Amino acid sequence: MTKRIEFQLAATDGAARTGTIRTTRGDIRTPAFMPVGTAATVKAMMPESVAATGADILLGNTYHLMLRPTAERIARLGGLHDFMNWQGPILTDSGGFQVMSLADLRKLTEEGVAFRSHIDGSKHMLTPERSMEIQKLLGSDIVMCFDECPALPATDKAVAESMELSMRWARRSKEAFGDRPGHALFGIMQGGVTQELRGISAEKLKEIGFDGYAIGGLAVGEGQEAMFGVLDYAPAMLPEDKPRYLMGVGKPDDIVGAVARGVDMMDCVLPSRSGRTGQAWTRQGQVNIKNARHADDPRPLDEHCTCPACRNYSRAYLHHVFRAQEMISGMLLTWHNLHYYQEIMSGMRQAIAAQRFDAWQQGFHSTRAMGDI
Ligand code: GUN
Ligand code: ZN
Repeated sequence: MTKRIEFQLAATDGAARTGTIRTTRGDIRTPAFMPVGTAATVKAMMPESVAATGADILLGNTYHLMLRPTAERIARLGGLHDFMNWQGPILTDSGGFQVMSLADLRKLTEEGVAFRSHIDGSKHMLTPERSMEIQKLLGSDIVMCFDECPALPATDKAVAESMELSMRWARRSKEAFGDRPGHALFGIMQGGVTQELRGISAEKLKEIGFDGYAIGGLAVGEGQEAMFGVLDYAPAMLPEDKPRYLMGVGKPDDIVGAVARGVDMMDCVLPSRSGRTGQAWTRQGQVNIKNARHADDPRPLDEHCTCPACRNYSRAYLHHVFRAQEMISGMLLTWHNLHYYQEIMSGMRQAIAAQRFDAWQQGFHSTRAMGDI
């Protein structure tokens, strides 16, 4: 019998938690940061390099893969893991969020979302049922419910109606997903920045019953203070014995603040995307490698980092290859950023296990400069 995905909590410190999600493709140590591999690649990284940074799980995207190369083609070629040469767990987002931010000519109905591809203008329809089918064809280990994420600010009425629609879609997602041992289905809480709506959303999701629960609808322009305001109550509305996943977050200090409030999993394009635009995240703060003051600097990006970019190259070299638009620039900076993010995660896991997460957080904040370094 294929075993089910299980979550084992090992320790808590305040609201923060550490544990392990056991999957048929390997363990995910939590709190976990998932690098984003939207189009069947973490851009500029070989899969073995992504694993070397300490990532246990990647995120893939229904929206991008259904359009190109299509889920059916990936299924014919043996599924997403073999296709992209990543044998660890993969979580796939369900498509609704990406349709709303990327697709052209969207039409939202009770049934789902009709849209045109941002790549070639072709017509498509995503529904909860179709999203479940695509994520099954991909072979995703953790499947996300099909939901709608309203852009903030929005009126309470609009946020409430959108949340209710997402909850109806969550029920349809669960029915369409069926019983698939070895694969997990996560519900997604919505409700904007309104506590009452978050509470209603949590109750509906718990009534349906999921293997894990995501907090959606954040990091959409509300700002860190408002996001932390929601995270002060939202995680506790979700079952304690299931993983909690904050979608699309964030900067290093967002991640630390989210874990402090009870979040177990996160994903964000930030470390990989900013690596390709010359932005590095370090213990001391952000470094903009294109700045001319790095041109003669023989020091590494971060003296304390053990990644290949910091061990083997100077800021001067990283500055040069960025300015010369050499491909190694994106490769090295992405590696560094992902490595740094994973060091934050492992630091938090150890600190929570040792009941010294407060001290760890103080250390994290004390080394950081306010501006660019
Ligand atoms: N990614 C970031 N936020 C969201 C959200 O609210 N829903 C989904 N499906 N994906 C997200
Ligand atoms: Zn480094």
